[in-house]
Amino acid sequence: MKSMLSHSFVLDCLEETGPDTFTHFEVLIDEHRRLEQEGCGQPSRLKQLVPTVGTFHTRLPLRQAFHAYNEKHRLTKRKHIQISFNEIRHILNLAQVIAMRYPEGSTERPPTFNEKEKLVEDLENDVDIIEGAIQEGQLKGPRMVTFDGDQTLYTDGSNFDSNPKLANYMYLLLHHGVSVAVVTAAGYEYNVEKYEFRLSGLLEYFKSKNLTKEECERFFIFGGECNYLLHLGHDFHLHPVNEKGRGGWMTATKHIPHSPANWNEDEVNALLDAAYTALEESVNDQNINGRTIRKKRSVGLVPNAGTSRISREALDESVLRCQAKLSQLNGGGRSNLPFCAFNGGSDAWVDIGNKRVAVEVLASYLGIDPYEILHIGDQFLNTGNDYAARAVCPCIWITSPEETTYILKTILNLAGIQYHLDNELEATAILAGRKSLDFEEMDRRKSVMQQMDVYTGEIKKG
Ligand code: IMP
Ligand code: MG
Repeated sequence: MKSMLSHSFVLDCLEETGPDTFTHFEVLIDEHRRLEQEGCGQPSRLKQLVPTVGTFHTRLPLRQAFHAYNEKHRLTKRKHIQISFNEIRHILNLAQVIAMRYPEGSTERPPTFNEKEKLVEDLENDVDIIEGAIQEGQLKGPRMVTFDGDQTLYTDGSNFDSNPKLANYMYLLLHHGVSVAVVTAAGYEYNVEKYEFRLSGLLEYFKSKNLTKEECERFFIFGGECNYLLHLGHDFHLHPVNEKGRGGWMTATKHIPHSPANWNEDEVNALLDAAYTALEESVNDQNINGRTIRKKRSVGLVPNAGTSRISREALDESVLRCQAKLSQLNGGGRSNLPFCAFNGGSDAWVDIGNKRVAVEVLASYLGIDPYEILHIGDQFLNTGNDYAARAVCPCIWITSPEETTYILKTILNLAGIQYHLDNELEATAILAGRKSLDFEEMDRRKSVMQQMDVYTGEIKKG
């Protein structure tokens, strides 16, 4: 996409050819979707151009998104700097959000370019309620939003304690009927306190907003990719969702071949053994200043305490080694377990399960179609752990919690949800610990926070 836009840039005619290039991509994507749906095996032109191209779960109004983005950032007015990868990523993200607001078959018509002023206005301002934007308590847009944790809700290795806008927008999603789940690789079995510590500010915010029981029931966290499912109770604490028996999430998802309900514990251990050996070899071969960790459903390579970072190259090499070794194991028919080998930015992990399975399980358990779910994450390279979700639901690729915040603002604005600056100021005050907070609870969570190793979940003594 970037190279196709470069020609226009060189010729100084992006103003005319930019929108046309995006229309061309819409045509290619439509053709790709049609051929995939027909299942005739004929590769689309897009597939031939980009062999790794995935599934498009919705149409993408790219031309419209380009116009809206260009209206704000004036890409076509630039004389020296080409449109960048990140800008194209933003335009794709915007197109995906617009597509979920105006799904195919909807009687509503998305604003056209001629009405672009309206769209830009909606995106920029704290809009008034758009007539008919909320239907039966459910906002128009995704029915569920799943969030990656690290680098999506909070910066890598830290926790949710200081992002009032994001907390407010997540609350507004819940309030308007959208289910919300944090789907994170970080897994601490069912040690509730450890997940609570990582989401401390968010849970405090929910408490201060006095969420109703129904709103609380729409909030989940899936730890260890898809291993440990917890939900928010009306006491504003997380609680494990029953796995087995009536209403158990595993029982209810047994029909999904890759559901944890169908995993064999011997296979789990064999896969972890192989991954552990591959990581140890990688540490030795590359002289990495790090250590390996083994948990019940994952193995990790993390930096030694107090040492410098492990380089991206060394982490990627470790991940690709694991992927190759474990695919061999799966290919050899000895195992058919879903797994995820990924570079987490400062560490590398092999988890049993992945975010694709998490989305499938949540969709089935909550009775939502996967294409109505939006997954937001930061790791969409083939060595990242959000990549797997692409196969089953629309995704948004962000690079920081600030970008996540902007995406939620866009979803809410497009849906016509009214919120006021006052809400944000109030949120800031709450998260700064000044207002209507349970200080004892805050202190308790803070003290756990200072003692916990985010990799292992171990509480340090002394
Ligand atoms: P995510 O971005 O929310 O999916 O979280 C990924 C990060 O969680 C990794 O980079 C690790 O730092 C951390 N983490 C903690 N425990 C685990 C685990 O058991 N498996 C994978 N990642 C873990
Ligand atoms: Mg992440």
